[in-house]
Amino acid sequence: MFTNDLLKDKRILITGGGTGIGRAMAERFLQLGATVYICGRRLEVVQRTAQELTSSTKGSIEGFACDVRYSDDVETLIEKLWAQGPLDILINNAAGNFLARTEELSEHAFEAVMGIVLKGTINMTMACGRRWLKEKHKGVVLSIATTYADTGSAYVVPSAVAKAGVVALMRSLAVEWGDRGIRTVAIAPGAIRTEGAFSRLLPVPELEKAVLDHNPLHRFGTLEEIANLGAFLVSDQAGYINGDMVYMDGGEMLAGASTFSMLGRKIPESAWQLMKPKRK
Ligand code: COA
Repeated sequence: MFTNDLLKDKRILITGGGTGIGRAMAERFLQLGATVYICGRRLEVVQRTAQELTSSTKGSIEGFACDVRYSDDVETLIEKLWAQGPLDILINNAAGNFLARTEELSEHAFEAVMGIVLKGTINMTMACGRRWLKEKHKGVVLSIATTYADTGSAYVVPSAVAKAGVVALMRSLAVEWGDRGIRTVAIAPGAIRTEGAFSRLLPVPELEKAVLDHNPLHRFGTLEEIANLGAFLVSDQAGYINGDMVYMDGGEMLAGASTFSMLGRKIPESAWQLMKPKRK
């Protein structure tokens, strides 16, 4: 899809890069010539991923322990990376989420998800953004949001609240920092099979089936698809895309966001016949 030097000379940090979408992006960015840094809470996970990807591609990748919830942790990592020169691209991918009835959530449950998703994204974006502005260095921030960031969603309320904040941050900074060389963009993925997400959000086959049935394309998104979209959005080829969130959900949002869309496949043929205009 791209030339192999699309991301040449780009230094990219991916939060939560040890697994799932973050790992898939790391792999794709390496193939496209980037120097990649991944971070996560568990050092052994990011280091293992870095090792595995090093042996499968020729690019350079390093893994670091960092808990994005804590600004001190983030500052330490960013300072270390900046000591070798500025980063060019930040991917806010680290997330936490689980399916739960909202009335059963403890305060700590809200804090856990919002800490990773919203505070983590703010910590990372501020740490990189301040440095880019001070040094007049161009930068791109790509945040992985979600389709329900714009609408809210039952049963994943801490995540919905936090992701709405992430999108507000992205849209606000697109305007505030845009003329100083920093682009901010987001992806709103629909369901993509990863162990982290599916074990916490679609734990039983009935739920998977319901999500598939509802999706106009009747399939989940793939890691390759989101990695390619991410590569495009952070590349210079997407230089005029700023403050935008790209939906990558097979049309799922459109099928659910209007009153009659969701009825679609449930309307029996007899009802369509009843509605036919009476022609003389
Ligand atoms: N239902 C209700 N509450 C839940 C829950 C669930 N399914 N899972 C966790 N919680 C609550 C815990 O009970 C705890 O609250 P408490 O101390 O009042 O009991 C709180 O959430 C924090 O859980 P804990 O496991 O201690 O926190 P953590 O920081 O280690 O984990 C999570 C954070 C909960 C977000 C965990 O799911 C995680 O680490 N996720 C990362 C990966 C991920 O979610 N990927 C999917 C992205 S789509």
